[in-house]
Amino acid sequence: MDPNSSGVAQRLAEAGQSHLQQFWDELSPEEKDELSLDLQGMDFKEINCFFKSAMEMSSSSKHEKMDARMEPVPRDVLGSVTRDRDSLQEWEAAGLQCISQNKVAALLLAGGQGTRLGVSYPKGMYDVGLPSHKTLFQIQAERIVKLQELAEKKYKSKCSIPWYIMTSGRTMESTKDFFSRHNYFGLDQKNVIFFQQGMLPAMDYSGKIILESKGKVSMAPDGNGGLYRALGGQGILQDMLQRGIECIHVYCVDNILVKVADPAFIGFCVQKGADCGAKVVEKTNPTEAVGVVCKVDGHYQVVEYSEITLATAQKRSSDGRLMFNAGNVANHFFSFSFLKDIVEKYEPQLQHHVAQKKIPFVDEKGQIVKPDKPNGIKMEKFVFDIFQFAKTFVVYEVLREDEFSPLKNADRQDGKDTPSTARHALMSLHHRWVLNAGGHFIDENGRRVPAIPSLKDGTDLPIKCEISPLVSYGGEGLEDLVRGREFRPTLMIDESGVHELVKNGV
Ligand code: UTP
Repeated sequence: MDPNSSGVAQRLAEAGQSHLQQFWDELSPEEKDELSLDLQGMDFKEINCFFKSAMEMSSSSKHEKMDARMEPVPRDVLGSVTRDRDSLQEWEAAGLQCISQNKVAALLLAGGQGTRLGVSYPKGMYDVGLPSHKTLFQIQAERIVKLQELAEKKYKSKCSIPWYIMTSGRTMESTKDFFSRHNYFGLDQKNVIFFQQGMLPAMDYSGKIILESKGKVSMAPDGNGGLYRALGGQGILQDMLQRGIECIHVYCVDNILVKVADPAFIGFCVQKGADCGAKVVEKTNPTEAVGVVCKVDGHYQVVEYSEITLATAQKRSSDGRLMFNAGNVANHFFSFSFLKDIVEKYEPQLQHHVAQKKIPFVDEKGQIVKPDKPNGIKMEKFVFDIFQFAKTFVVYEVLREDEFSPLKNADRQDGKDTPSTARHALMSLHHRWVLNAGGHFIDENGRRVPAIPSLKDGTDLPIKCEISPLVSYGGEGLEDLVRGREFRPTLMIDESGVHELVKNGV
């Protein structure tokens, strides 16, 4: 379709983006159709406004450090799995009760591009090399299956946890297809609901939309905070309302240890009457590049490491811990009414953040250029941008080694957040579960492996041990299977029993 006939050319001219048609005459009929379709779906004036305000926000935050305006999370809004041990059972029971009443949903953020990991398929389909070779999607699905079972057993009531999965234009079809091929990993298909977040074009620093080839605009998902616009636009809020959902657990696809719909976290938030909650892990190293949850001018938000001075990052409380130590792990509780308010009232107030990137582009002569330094920006909203609107905000501190090991990068020697670190984190958690339930491991000579591995033996490899989420959600229910027994790794515990795999390729 000729863009002139549909008014696109005029809209482009008005928005100063006419260069997007500069190669029009060289395109094949199919390429013309595709480009026309893409351009027709874009609101260039809105995109220009997003660019302007994102750049303004980015330059003001560069100049101004947050330090003087920040306060740490007060103790009265904080729950901690280590410091509030006595309350854990009560919180968990409250959470399981909500689940048994069909009031809880899980919402997975899986719309990212996974550029650092560098695979061509959605990250949730990644197999980090566990003995079972389960993917991240399967592990999470099975945790939901098990949790439904635990809630049903405790409260004698059949229940389900709807699972809302946010994908992007690029990942929707392959994600849906993967779930369908695997029969939804034991979940009821009607409780697995896919929806799609928006995309925005990449821009150069002067606000021109970038063409990645002569007939294609460079597009990227609009950040995990694109969630809020998508929830309204795609009828998801309505679906939650119809199902009577009251609590939503939002989390990222890449954390292999994630406790999906964690009943203790949900119970804690519900008992505190919270509309919004953030799970955090303790930041122990002042220079770790992790955002911290804190108050700024009286409102909660996540402050990035780059927004504070080293002196503030290093400040310690009287107990010796870092003063700003609530490390954000993008793992949140929202009440339904809070989410509804965000979607219906506050979403338009959220501004895009600027991410400077190396964005391949087609130059004036029509050549594709792969830049070796950042040449433009992608615009993203973040899932935590809405903390500021919470009326009752709470923070829940958990142990990093039990709950947080994200998969970000491809494997390389001593790499951080890689398939190997994710695999090791899960296996060492499961190792600890076996020990806690009274089991032991022995080495190839029949000697007991010490519970705390010796650093002297030069290996920091974990014991090879994997427990199916269908057997245990969080370490519970293992005593009958392992107490007083000795196992030779690789140990695998699944629905069919306890197995020692002699040959393994892990
Ligand atoms: P990251 O910011 O780590 O991005 O996402 P990513 O896409 O996984 O990886 P890189 O940066 O391209 O290497 C954190 C979480 O937010 C989701 C991701 O799927 C992941 O669960 N996300 C990110 C979205 O859902 N949408 C987005 O637009 C961006």
